[in-house]
Amino acid sequence: MARQVDKIKRKLLLHCAVLLCVLLLFITSACSSAATPTRTLSAMQVAQPAQSTPQIISPTLRSLAQAHHFYIGTTVNVKALRYEAAYSATLAREFNMVTPEVSMKFSETEPQRDVYTFAKADYIVAFAQAHQMQVRGHNLAWYNDLPAWLTSGNFTRDDLIAILRDHIMTEVTRYRGQVNIWDVVNEAVGDDGNLRASIWLRGIGPGYIDMAFQWAHEANPQARLFYNDYGGEGLGRKSDAIYTLVKGLLQRGVPFDGVGLQMHISLDRYPNAQDVLANMQRLAALGLEVQITEMDVKTQDDARPMQAKLAAEAQLYGEMLHTCLSVAGCTAFVMWGFTDAHSWIPAYTGHPDYPLIFDGKYRPKPAYYALANVLSGP
Ligand code: G3I
Repeated sequence: MARQVDKIKRKLLLHCAVLLCVLLLFITSACSSAATPTRTLSAMQVAQPAQSTPQIISPTLRSLAQAHHFYIGTTVNVKALRYEAAYSATLAREFNMVTPEVSMKFSETEPQRDVYTFAKADYIVAFAQAHQMQVRGHNLAWYNDLPAWLTSGNFTRDDLIAILRDHIMTEVTRYRGQVNIWDVVNEAVGDDGNLRASIWLRGIGPGYIDMAFQWAHEANPQARLFYNDYGGEGLGRKSDAIYTLVKGLLQRGVPFDGVGLQMHISLDRYPNAQDVLANMQRLAALGLEVQITEMDVKTQDDARPMQAKLAAEAQLYGEMLHTCLSVAGCTAFVMWGFTDAHSWIPAYTGHPDYPLIFDGKYRPKPAYYALANVLSGP
């Protein structure tokens, strides 16, 4: 009898030990999975080291913009998107529209004639789809960033027409249903108001602009097609030239939907908000959509202390967003990047700069709060 009681006791002890082990195993595995960095924001906040932990900002620009049925966007650097968890988490959290910074340009997508490379653009488009973001395709006919085979080739007019047509048809068709806004023609007007010299203007003639829109429309009739340029945001010679150009497109029945105002400005050089408003209104009065497509604010030429510069930068961001929101036809506000860690300006000028709304460690700057404040309004 006593031996049987002993046996039962031992069995009970064994069961308890097994149960304890299972419990311990469960707790350990739960802890380790919480520390595994993934692309979701909540997991990332657990995984990031303290100094680079993105702050939790609530509500986000994205949620505020959504309440206005409005797009708040940024350009995307594919390398940062792939390799920096804080970059992708901030991007997905704060924006509902993206523009590939270089990955859809001619030299990136057709580095050899008829040889297309879409891996980088595909990566951005897949990210956008996974996070319910719109993509602005950028760009199809530009004077810049063309591959050497094209710029150093000796092509006839018919060759160039075939090259541009194939390029546009191939790229726009590939992303039909995924990319429904395109900067079809980019920076075709020079600072003097005349058409800018380019391989397309020289080889095909001014008709290349109408052709580009026709082909983009043929490849994706659902897409909204934009003319995109810088330096024509306010009123003046260049914006008048752009206005005349787009009015002409409409008069000729070219399939065309909107104008992108890039808005690369500096603390010491920017258009008056009243002029931007008037320009947007005259474009909207033609029945066109308007978007701010590439805003950033160069700070390096301003001698004030940093705090004053950041306040002035915030003021400009807020003013331009407010201007856009006050025109019914202005449907998106897109910045040329979102973190000072990845802006084209330092590489281009050779000097450090702070042109965007998050600092280099993904902390929101005064400009971020200026945008949030405007978006929180009626
Ligand atoms: O990809 C190579 C990389 O492999 C190499 O190590 C590196 C060394 O310089 O160069 C890299 O390519 C650079 C690319 O940006 C990616 O960073 C190119 O040299 C450089 O010319 C390219 O500059 C881009 C420029 O357009 C020309 O495409 C800028 O990032 C981009 O911000 C700028 O964007 C334009 C818009 O498309 C149109 N509006 C103005 C805006 C600013 O200039």
